[in-house]
Amino acid sequence: MSRIDNEMIHNNLNWRYACKKFDPTKKIRESDWNVLLDSLRLSASSYGLQPWKFIVVQNPEIRQQLLPLSFGQTPITEASHLVVLAFKEKMDEAHITQFLKKTAQVRGVDESTLDGYKNMMIGDVVKGPRSAVISCWAQKQVYIAMGFMLTTAALMEIDTLPMEGINPAEYDKVLGLENSGFKTVAAIACGYRAEDDAYQFAKKVRFDLKDVVIVK
Ligand SMILES: Cc1cc2nc3c(=O)[nH]c(=O)nc-3n(C[C@H](O)[C@H](O)[C@H](O)COP(=O)(O)O)c2cc1C
Repeated sequence: MSRIDNEMIHNNLNWRYACKKFDPTKKIRESDWNVLLDSLRLSASSYGLQPWKFIVVQNPEIRQQLLPLSFGQTPITEASHLVVLAFKEKMDEAHITQFLKKTAQVRGVDESTLDGYKNMMIGDVVKGPRSAVISCWAQKQVYIAMGFMLTTAALMEIDTLPMEGINPAEYDKVLGLENSGFKTVAAIACGYRAEDDAYQFAKKVRFDLKDVVIVK
């Protein structure tokens, strides 16, 4: 496997910006979308527990309903693809068992060999101190997946807008997430920038490396 060169990575990360205006005529090719969507699934998560659902909203009527629940941000309806990120509200033994069944199957090991791992996870996220802040923990995991998708999109030269400027509780109603055990936290619009989106020409505002990195 050949790796992408440093200059290309750096250029693409600089090329990425929070796209405020998408070209509604430009659609992401299915083969590209498949890779981009899979970047969410391939994200790292604590213990590998993947406490999330990703809702791909391609139905124009549903996206129209989401528009006023998103401060009228036009990428909701104009971007090629819209994905809503939801987190799992509670961690339970059933989820951990499901994860370990999958692990045993994928890695060809007996499930019983994972008992120690199981008890450790239960002792932390189900019954331990982390269970008190589990919704916050799950949301952090979802944001890691968001980062994966934004970075992957940048490398693919696909534009994105990460969005917290949405009404999560109202999204849950529209998307049928109420009583599902999952709650909306954010969304990502994906597609291609409109030529006249002025934000693409704005210089990046970032603190200098020396201001944010501490070397010991
Ligand atoms: C979690 C998150 C939520 C965001 N929500 C919004 C949003 O709702 N609307 C918006 O226009 N930009 C949103 N942004 C974009 C940021 O404002 C933007 O990333 C930041 O200003 C840096 O600019 P750049 O991404 O263009 O480099 C969000 C970014 C992140 C990471």
